[in-house]
Amino acid sequence: MLAVACTKSNDYNYSQDIAPILQQNCTPCHRSGGAAPFSLTTFQQVNRKKNTILAVTQSGLMPPWPADRNYSHFIGERYLNNTDKQKIKNWIKNGAPEGDTSLLPPMPEYDAYSQIGKPDTTLWFDSILISGNSRDKFYIATLPITLSENKYVKAMEFLPNQNNLVHHMNGRLLNYEEGNKASITDGLRILNLEVDEAEYMNQFNALQLANDNGTRPEQINSAVNYLPGVQAQIYPEGIGGFRMNKKSILIADDIHFGPIPQDKWDHSRVNIFFSDAPPKRPIREVMLGTNGASKIIPPLVIPAGKITSHTTFLRIPEDISILTINPHMHLLGKRFKAYALTPAQDTIRLISIPQWDFRWQYFYTFPTMLKIPAGSVIYVEAEYDNTSKNQNNPHNPPQEISERLDNGGAGMRTTDEMLQFIITWLPYQAGDEKVSLKVK
Ligand code: HEC
Repeated sequence: MLAVACTKSNDYNYSQDIAPILQQNCTPCHRSGGAAPFSLTTFQQVNRKKNTILAVTQSGLMPPWPADRNYSHFIGERYLNNTDKQKIKNWIKNGAPEGDTSLLPPMPEYDAYSQIGKPDTTLWFDSILISGNSRDKFYIATLPITLSENKYVKAMEFLPNQNNLVHHMNGRLLNYEEGNKASITDGLRILNLEVDEAEYMNQFNALQLANDNGTRPEQINSAVNYLPGVQAQIYPEGIGGFRMNKKSILIADDIHFGPIPQDKWDHSRVNIFFSDAPPKRPIREVMLGTNGASKIIPPLVIPAGKITSHTTFLRIPEDISILTINPHMHLLGKRFKAYALTPAQDTIRLISIPQWDFRWQYFYTFPTMLKIPAGSVIYVEAEYDNTSKNQNNPHNPPQEISERLDNGGAGMRTTDEMLQFIITWLPYQAGDEKVSLKVK
């Protein structure tokens, strides 16, 4: 074979230089059946989009990873290094030659049915008709689950259908105790969140999630989460997992669809992986901010035309090990930062998102568990932009926006705001700092 490895900087070609970069960083999402709306697996597809590719790679919009990598690190970070950015730029500036196609690396293989193994069962949500009005859309969807007996779940994986429209999904599980609910299938299955407040409350009640006597069932938060291109979380042996009762309802609260120009059906599903034993170290979750354990200062009211800053903080009474964190704001979010201050006044960096993008709401998992010593205070700082300069502002001209906690449906609608910081954690055990959380 001829030595071909050394191409000069100004004659990069697709087959040898660019395809490997795109396969590594883009085709996990941009492929048929992938999480992105179009493929970048052939020269023709890439060539057709080269000008937008140039723009989004140089600006850092793609691959999507809003967290500042100079601040803290997580599993599955997606970014282009400067050499690769420069290669893409030079290649396009030089006319984007294809090169010798016999030198193309083979496409990596992807499993369309699961990224983490062979599920024990797969269940489908009802289909949702997504209207093609080129706007972001938000729903609550419920999935009643009936099992032969109470079981334990090791992991759940959400899979959108082929022409993927789902942009994110946060799922909680409601466990009904024997005798508490006659039927789990009577309620409404889909609630469009673009409704007014009164209608929202009507429809929310029509989901029929409460026990028959009106009390709430047990709730497992973050039973399953989804974001395009993110592998479902499965923790090392003995960590995580939860009980799933004979009668339970998985509630996608919420599920976000990206803008599309034509009506399409979404038909998403979940894979369930059971486990024989109850979890040894069940994961706990704490939420700061809206609906959570700490109040927001000043209260989250963002006057029309204003940029405002808010904080919320929480003291941690015992040693804990953090696994994942999830910053959450809506359309007016601009900046987000979280860190812990220890009793010894050391700062433990959690996350910084200098340019908030509501489209990319990752659950960020630390490479190894992160110890936060007892007595530390976790601080969150968030900034919102309610001026007309914010392109995502849902109102033109801008209007005052707040959490609207008054109605039980706290800030659920997209056009309301939220400030939340969700932390999943375990009581600290010696050696936790060395436990890798990477999915095999
Ligand atoms: C984690 C999944 C993921 C990865 C990885 C990814 N993309 Fe994307 N990309 C998307 C999604 C989803 C969209 C649709 C736009 C949106 O929802 O924000 C998109 C949109 C785009 C667009 C259209 C942007 C526009 O403004 O119209 C381009 C171009 C693009 N991606 C190129 C790339 C390139 C090049 C890479 C690799 C360097 C890449 N993407 C990596 C998910 C991904």
